[in-house]
This record gives sequence, C-alpha cells and structure tokens, in this order.
Amino acid sequence: MSYTSLELQRLVEPHRVHRDVYTDPQIFDLEMERLWRRAWVYVGHESQVANIGDYITTTVGLEPVVMARDKNNRVQVLYNRCGHKGAKVVTQRAGSARVFRCPYHGWTYRLDGKLQATPHACGYENTDFDIDNPCFSMQSVARIDACRGFVFACLSPEGPDLLAFLGDTALTINNMCDRSPQGEVEVAGAPLPYMHDCNWKMFVENLNDAVHPMVAHASVGHATRKVVESLPEGSPVPSEAEIISPFGGSYEFFDSMGSRTMPYGHCFMGGKGSIHSSYSEIAGYMDAMQASYGEQRTTEILSQQRHNTTVYPSFTVKDAIQIVRVARPIAVDKTLVETWHFKLKGAPDEMLHRTITYSRLINSPGSMVGPDDWDCYRRMQQSLHSDASTWVDMRRYLGRNEPDGNVHVAPGTSDESVRNQYRAWCDYLLDEAQ
Ligand SMILES: [Fe+2]
Repeated sequence: MSYTSLELQRLVEPHRVHRDVYTDPQIFDLEMERLWRRAWVYVGHESQVANIGDYITTTVGLEPVVMARDKNNRVQVLYNRCGHKGAKVVTQRAGSARVFRCPYHGWTYRLDGKLQATPHACGYENTDFDIDNPCFSMQSVARIDACRGFVFACLSPEGPDLLAFLGDTALTINNMCDRSPQGEVEVAGAPLPYMHDCNWKMFVENLNDAVHPMVAHASVGHATRKVVESLPEGSPVPSEAEIISPFGGSYEFFDSMGSRTMPYGHCFMGGKGSIHSSYSEIAGYMDAMQASYGEQRTTEILSQQRHNTTVYPSFTVKDAIQIVRVARPIAVDKTLVETWHFKLKGAPDEMLHRTITYSRLINSPGSMVGPDDWDCYRRMQQSLHSDASTWVDMRRYLGRNEPDGNVHVAPGTSDESVRNQYRAWCDYLLDEAQ
C-alpha cells in the first residue's frame, strides 16, 4: 500500500477531509483491509435461516460469505470458498440445502463448513490429505454473534465483542424488537436493492445529515404540503403524507431532534422525537402491545423515537418503522444499498404495510426521496475529481457537543456525526497491525 500513517493522518483534519478518502481506490482497499475486516459487519437476520439447512449468501466487506443454519441448529457464517481450489461454492442468494457442493470438483461440505466427501478419493491415498484437516473446510469467519436475532460477523479475532461494539445502539435494536407484542421481528421478503454510483461513506454519512432534507427533498415536501392543504376540512391525512411530510421539515425541527454520537463511529438522531413521531395509530396495535407489556411498559417502548441509527460502517436502523438499510461496498465508487423490512410478530398486518409503504415512498429507486439523495451522491463522486479544491468540509457546530451519559449530544444539523465517523475511520486505518 502506498499510504504511510502520516499520509493517512493528513487526509483527515478536525473540520475537513481530503477528497481521496472518497475517490482513491488504494484508500478503498485499505478500508476493506483495516476497517471492514475489523469492525462487526451485519450479515443477516436469523429469520432468514429459520430452518436447518436454510442459507443466504452475502458479503462482509468484499468477502463473499454464506450464513447457514447447521444440523445442530446453530447459525454459521462461512467464507464462500471451496477448500480445494478456491471456487465460490454457493451462488444462490438464498435457499435450503443438506450440504454445500462445489460445482468444480464436487467437494461437498456440511452446513458447518466441515469437508464431508471428495469424489474419487482413492487419488489421495498415500498422500498426507486428511479429510478431517480443518484446512480443507469452508472456513468459518473469525467471530459470529447476534443481538436479538441480528447476526454480525467480524473477520478479525481481535477487538471488542459485539455488545461492547454496539454500545448504546443495541437499544435501537432492542426497541425495534420490543415494538413487537411478541418481542420478536422477522424479515419480510427479499431486500430492496439500490445500486449507488458512489463511495459507501457518502451513503452512511447522509443518514444523519439533517441539513439536506429541506433542500434536496424540497420538491416532494412542497408537493405533499399542497396535497394536504387541498384536502376538505376534517379529512384524515393519508398515511403517505404523514410519511413524506417530515422530509420537508425545517432546520429548527431537525436541530431540536439532536444528533448523538458514540464510540466506533456510531450515531443516531432523535430519541424523544423524530420524523416518525406523528404517525397515526394503527387499529389493534396498542391493544396487542398493552396486552403483552401493560400500559406503562408499552408507553416506554413507543416513546423511544430514534431516527436513523448508524452502526458504523454497515448497519443502519429505523426502529420506529422497522427498516434496516445495509451498505455493501463494491468499489471505491460503487455501493449496493439493501433495504430490509421487518414484520413485528403479533402486530396487525397494517404495521408491515406501513413499513413497506415507507420504503416505496422513501427508499426505493422509484421513490420520491431516495433518488434525490442518489443524485447528490453521484454529483459529489463525479465532481470530487475536479481541480477546484481537494477538500470536503464538515465543520458545522464544530466543538458544540456535550456528554450525556454514554453519548455526546449536538444540534441535529451538526456535522458531529460525520466527524465522529472519521475519528473511528482514523482509529481503524492508522492501526497497521494485521
Ligand atoms: Fe435525504
């Protein structure tokens, strides 16, 4: 790698970053090696592998992996690589299997990765080949752990355990699950994929950027207000309008939500109130919650109102609307964003309907909000190559954050969440030890 520690340090100043962090393929390679291999990266939800033999394929950083439920009912995360010649073993996005079989020479593996058989095995007689030697397995990643069914993998044996890594963001995951009258969520269907022509950090940084909605999403906010104003007096506001309207919120609205940052680059907005606070009640939901939790606990659960929680670098959660968006980096200027929808077990179907409506309106490539962001990312990714300047600014409310328990609080339109991400970025990238 061509970057020395000193050169890396020079890319990040307290109030700005050098454009190379978004545009240089060598930086991207360093990120994959030093950040994405060391952080806990979201793989999938246990409900995607509900039964023995179920599996999904995805990536951790650039590493193809398989998450499977083995015959002992344990969830495994394996490198998707044959222990023989190295071919990718599993190519389906999801399925169910008794064994994994490499399509090249037919080596077959148990669901926990152990090599089970090789065809025409007589050829290995009188060699030191040993079918039980772990070197021939599909290798397990260094560490696997889960929080309320959300499975994360870490490719490094070193570093904090998952709960220490998640810190306060575990409360977001807990809250999303507690919003189910049964205390559990399950994935609803396939993800909504959205390929972005930008560096992964642009998407992640934008989730807590509250200075852009009133500009980038002005047109849809304005159109929604006009629709609501044109309704006959006393008419109910359509749920679509309830969902879109906050995207036209004022600077003061987002400032009052507040931005909260914590170790490892994590952050969230809101807490007591967010863009999701004013949704109408869905019939039957409160009854189901109170029957499970009682009135006081139900109020506690539903009063936690966080906006986007970012578990840096890959996992972002909207607990109040049961949506997870995952960044899957592909290249320095290409990122797959997956949107996953979660069903609250025991809640009325209308809750899931609202979750999916939210994505249709906000997250989908065909929506009225997501493409606004996508266009801005693409403009940045292209124009950062300009000779006009080599710096990207992040100084809003610099130095204006205060500790509050385990988190730091700043005005909602502060760049503090971005600065906090770059502090973590430096911690990872400046540590050369592998
Ligand atoms: Fe946006």
